[in-house]
Amino acid sequence: MDHKSQWMSSTGFILASAGSAIGLGAIWKFPYMAGQYGGGAFLLLFLLFTILIGLPLLMMEFSIGKLGQTYTTALYDKLTGYKLFNLIGWNGNLAVFILFAFYSVIGGWIIIYIGRTLLAFVNIIQPQNAAASFNWIISTPWTALLGQFLFIAITALIVSMGVEKGIERASKWMMPLLFLLFIVIIIRSLTLEGAAEGVRYFLTPRFEDITFESIVFALGQSFFALSLGTTGMITYATYLNKEANIGTASFSIVIMNLLVSIMAGLAIFPATASFHVKPEQGPGLLFIVLPQIFNHLAFGNVFYLLFLILFLFAALTSSISLLELNISNVTKNDNSQRRRWSLLLSGFIIIAGIPAALSFGVLNDIRFGAGTIFDNMDYLVSNILMPLGALTTTIACGHFMDKDAIISQFNSKTKTISVWFIAIKYILPAVILLVFIMQFI
Ligand code: PHE
Repeated sequence: MDHKSQWMSSTGFILASAGSAIGLGAIWKFPYMAGQYGGGAFLLLFLLFTILIGLPLLMMEFSIGKLGQTYTTALYDKLTGYKLFNLIGWNGNLAVFILFAFYSVIGGWIIIYIGRTLLAFVNIIQPQNAAASFNWIISTPWTALLGQFLFIAITALIVSMGVEKGIERASKWMMPLLFLLFIVIIIRSLTLEGAAEGVRYFLTPRFEDITFESIVFALGQSFFALSLGTTGMITYATYLNKEANIGTASFSIVIMNLLVSIMAGLAIFPATASFHVKPEQGPGLLFIVLPQIFNHLAFGNVFYLLFLILFLFAALTSSISLLELNISNVTKNDNSQRRRWSLLLSGFIIIAGIPAALSFGVLNDIRFGAGTIFDNMDYLVSNILMPLGALTTTIACGHFMDKDAIISQFNSKTKTISVWFIAIKYILPAVILLVFIMQFI
């Protein structure tokens, strides 16, 4: 009996944290980032950062959460003895709040696309040129805002009703289905005329493309895709029991996340070459290229709809973790307050999200810093708050927490774990700090 319930909880944990990680980051953001910052060179940097920095950081967040067992604005004090470190928890809450506000814009696009595809099925609307309909969807205020509102509302509904467990269980077959569908898309994409050029662009690193910028954004992308530096993964690990194997969990989540990112790239880049779509065009890349691939596929409409539903699902398992982090902190894990706070917080997020949603339309001319309002929100989270959260957590963990207690969270005390701890203590803070400073040069 006991054994079974532990196993259940450890799978539930892997499903939930893999669900948090795999989402828009790997499927939507990775391809357009690679398209903007050097193709193969970006892929190489992203792989290196994910394995050498992302994996050890994920192990750290899991061990801290498993040891700390409380919400993140109290956990740092509990484990280090210094109240000041709780600021890292606040930084994480701010990061996911802003993140959800712009994440929901893209989640909203998926919902609108689902609606459009359904309407096209019953011939209420005619399928249009992919780029034209994309531009219409993102720049028309009511579609952008409606989609965003629905995405936030669905997330809040799931979190307030406490049905995350059902969602996690569903991801057990939804995720493999998404993998399979990706393989179909990749095969179609690779067999398009002129696809080889796109494959080359994505898979062969040209070292002259490695710039300060590509390094900064590749690190930001590996944080974003693994949900690192926001204390989101710490929060999920606080719900863990002693037996759960966080080493295996971290490893499998990193591998799955890399796989999905690479699959997204293999689906998109051959097609960009074939359809003469510019790879550097930014957030619209996936939404412009995919419908064209499905157009070249038998039963393309059906496959497209299926893809959109699975894609939405992947985005929701991430947005749930965003909201969950804020809620665990405001309710201080008191579940009787859950419903009220879900409602209130999602209301705030909807308001904060409006300028992000309109960034692709009426507010598109407002540009500063990293670009549009949307770009700046993303930049602030991925390149400032996440690295800052990760950096300060390595310092807190490496220098102020009980080393033996942290290490004992792993089921076996191997040499690897000791090396890992040295990396957390000395190497990673130095590397993250270096890249962090790079962006200001
Ligand atoms: N990793 C998620 C994605 O790639 C985004 C996320 C970041 C979720 C931080 C939670 C915390 O879509």
